[in-house]
Amino acid sequence: MELNRRTLLTGAAAAGVTAAAGGAAHAAGGRKPVKSLFGTLADGTKVYRWSLENGGTRLKVLSYGGIVQSLEIPDRRGRYANVSLGFGSLQDYVTKSPYFGALIGRYGNRIGAGRFTLDGRTYQLSVNDDANSLHGGAQGFDKRVWDVEPFTRGTDVGLRLSYTSADGEMGYPGTLRTKVTYTLTRSGDWRIDYEATTDRATVCNLTSHVYFNLAGEGSGPVYGHELSIAASRYTPVDPGLIPTGELAEVAGTPFDFRRARTVGEDIRVAHPQLLHGKGLDHNWVLDKGVTGRPEHIATLRDPASGRTMRIATTEPGLQFYSGNFLDGSLVGTGGSVYRQGDGLCLETQHFPDSPNRPSFPSTVLRPGQVHRSTTVHSFSA
Ligand code: GLA
Repeated sequence: MELNRRTLLTGAAAAGVTAAAGGAAHAAGGRKPVKSLFGTLADGTKVYRWSLENGGTRLKVLSYGGIVQSLEIPDRRGRYANVSLGFGSLQDYVTKSPYFGALIGRYGNRIGAGRFTLDGRTYQLSVNDDANSLHGGAQGFDKRVWDVEPFTRGTDVGLRLSYTSADGEMGYPGTLRTKVTYTLTRSGDWRIDYEATTDRATVCNLTSHVYFNLAGEGSGPVYGHELSIAASRYTPVDPGLIPTGELAEVAGTPFDFRRARTVGEDIRVAHPQLLHGKGLDHNWVLDKGVTGRPEHIATLRDPASGRTMRIATTEPGLQFYSGNFLDGSLVGTGGSVYRQGDGLCLETQHFPDSPNRPSFPSTVLRPGQVHRSTTVHSFSA
């Protein structure tokens, strides 16, 4: 049975399910987010954790990297679980995080050889993934301290995060003023609005790198989750995970998620593309393309708990990464070791390496323009 949020809340209250420690708001249209100290960086900068709750969804966000440190949603019986992989300490985020929960900028995913040419000038970026630049370079937005302002607006609660990236940072041209808004709505949706402006022509591709496990982080692999993606094509990659430029049909391949099926069904098929990323780690070309309003593009469901997440976005691409590089060397938030496939990312984005692929939707941002994108995660059980 598909319960709506209000039913769930009532059900949870009736079952005596309690709010998380820290006493977040119980009702829709909840109160202001609550701030607590999470840790201190080596240079003395204090990092805070903000807790917010609305419509049955609970979110904890760090000022470091805009990281979603915890995302709790109920199952069909009202039992909460943290469905995002992460750590309990700031030290772990600083020293060994594979982008757990983080905001990604200036450029989500890879730029080949960490180099691109814009208006006749070639820019060399910070290279941090063999010969390529990944997720904004060695010190991307995931490793920056953001200004965070809480807000309540009608029945919404949320956080406004801002970070200004200096001209030349990680090799990118232009001062990029970035604002990201996390909103929890009264129906428990988690909405992300990205905005950026520049003072010189540059490229920009912002996303969020939450690793989802709808059975709860640390509970084992997500291969039994059912996934659908509204995409008839994907962008094949070379062995360095840089798109070849081709838009290949998903029909008849392990990349066909047009109808819901389990994540693990084809993960061991000896398709050459699966060998490059040790599993699924590709950009799906969303059939809807770039849109002015977020449109539904993917649904992820854990049949055992009933927890279901629907994603809507304005973006033209979705990087689906099946947690292939998790290798049992990290201990997560709840004290369990993360192994391969224990979480998956669904990163709404423009396509990887777009600055070097004129045929892909453009990621160029010029002075006077505003980069805008929105992604909404809706939960039910
Ligand atoms: C992205 C990439 C992956 C990997 C992860 C981080 O999703 O596509 O190849 O680099 O980030 O580990």
